[in-house]
Amino acid sequence: MSKPLIIAIDGPAASGKGTLARRLAAHYGLRHLDTGLTYRAVAAELLASGEDEPDVAAAVAAASRLDLAAMERDRLAAHDIGEAASKIAVMGELRRALVERQRQFAAEPPGAVLDGRDIGTVVCPDAAAKLFVTAKPEERARRRTEELRGRGQDVDYEAVLEDLKRRDARDMQRADSPLRPADDAHLIDTSAMTIEAAFRAAVAIIDRAVSAR
Ligand code: DC
Repeated sequence: MSKPLIIAIDGPAASGKGTLARRLAAHYGLRHLDTGLTYRAVAAELLASGEDEPDVAAAVAAASRLDLAAMERDRLAAHDIGEAASKIAVMGELRRALVERQRQFAAEPPGAVLDGRDIGTVVCPDAAAKLFVTAKPEERARRRTEELRGRGQDVDYEAVLEDLKRRDARDMQRADSPLRPADDAHLIDTSAMTIEAAFRAAVAIIDRAVSAR
């Protein structure tokens, strides 16, 4: 049986990596895992339990119970859940528990597209192709504002921009598995690109990487 095909996609919040990952998974006939949802699902459970200070043991327990197939994007999209996810993502023990689940997902045939912050560097360092998807903070804030308003949330662009910058700083500066491109990642800046153009650029990179394997 051939080795599972794994495609790693990393990048900051609202860079377009999720949309790209879903389209690539459909194109290559692979499964898709948005690893941000795994952090969000744990954060949502901790928020629901009402504890003020996030507790590592409770977070690890939530991670081990997590049903990856049952994570609901819409329910977990809320802004406060994203903030809470970014905060608990500094916990090394929680990261190890989630990374284990993410690796198991990736290893099942025929393989998968995983998107997140540390896929190319930590979760799947042997991925067949690695993309690092970025866009200017102002453009990401514009997209996120539109997305949240589309979901009926009343948000202010400037506040979204400030939050994104704060989240970027937290994700890039944490000691354990910070957001950064793997040395062998291909950068795609989607600031001035349509989704279609980003998709075509990604397919060209992946086809080249896969045929060179
Ligand atoms: O991509 P997202 O906005 O759904 O991610 C929410 C938070 O989860 C993000 O701010 C940091 C954390 N995260 C992480 O640390 N590692 C990942 N692979 C994915 C997300």
